[in-house]
Amino acid sequence: MQFDEERASVAVALASIAAEAAAALDSRVANAVGYALLGAGKRLRAVLLIAVYRASGGKGDASALAAAVEVVHAYSLVHDDLPCMDDDDVRRGRPTVHREHGVVAAAAAGVAMVPLAARAAAQAARTLGLSEDTQGEIVRTLMRASGAGGMIGGQLLDLLAEGRSLDAAALEHVHRLKTGALICASVRIGGLAAGASEPIMEALGRYGEAVGLAFQIADDLLDVTATTSQLGKTAGKDAAHGKSTYPAVLGVDGARARAVDLADEACRALSDAGIRSAQLDYLARFAVARPS
Ligand code: IPE
Ligand code: IPE
Ligand code: MG
Ligand code: MG
Ligand code: MG
Repeated sequence: MQFDEERASVAVALASIAAEAAAALDSRVANAVGYALLGAGKRLRAVLLIAVYRASGGKGDASALAAAVEVVHAYSLVHDDLPCMDDDDVRRGRPTVHREHGVVAAAAAGVAMVPLAARAAAQAARTLGLSEDTQGEIVRTLMRASGAGGMIGGQLLDLLAEGRSLDAAALEHVHRLKTGALICASVRIGGLAAGASEPIMEALGRYGEAVGLAFQIADDLLDVTATTSQLGKTAGKDAAHGKSTYPAVLGVDGARARAVDLADEACRALSDAGIRSAQLDYLARFAVARPS
């Protein structure tokens, strides 16, 4: 993946958020938060936010704001891996948080990371010199995407669907919520921070929704086509847990075609609105063609 510099800046911002958490939390929970935040993720949500911010005319350093989104994402992974959810032992190439720090610390760490993310986003928006209205809109966008109408709502539907065969429409709804919402929020927050106009925000929303769904379809595909060492997380888990997935519903080729169509749709949403960004086109394609 490109964007080494952006990913390095986001890593610095995440380390500073982890240090802030360490000062305020019981050390067992703080260690689990630090472990979760500093794991070797792709930081795709952060990179998307920064790329959108620049493409929308933003001139500041959006890496701290981007790190706040990664805090929510990292929390979602900590809880997703818990024994009561997907029960995973490996994440980002090493033991999952609960395997390393215990279930109690992992559960508490995940919960602690939500207000940590909200505070980090508010602080970063303030530091970027954004108005109080925009600061509020950014935090609301992040929290709404994390909540019952977004990530956690989708995670619940995902669990409730285990052992059942969802049809394509129901599966699309789960994917849009559990993964698409936070990716779309990353994109929209990049636009909000840059002061993008209403029509540009609308186009960014369509781009973010398409990329978000495509990203989870690719995740489903990688679960069946890639290896554990390639992914840094256990391959083949979806079938083992009776999950409904795109390859199960559309077949591997059908799922891949749908993801490619969505990447095209994302790029079209931008070009229709006159947004020309090679970086954003690249990221839409990367969401689909990534190796892990
Ligand atoms: C994995 O997300 C979980 C999903 C929402 C599919 P990523 O593939 O972005 O995980 P990291 O951050 O790179 O580890
Ligand atoms: C995860 O979906 C969605 C989240 C909100 C974390 P998965 O359960 O398929 O993600 P992986 O495959 O464990 O990373
Ligand atoms: Mg899951
Ligand atoms: Mg999982
Ligand atoms: Mg998966």
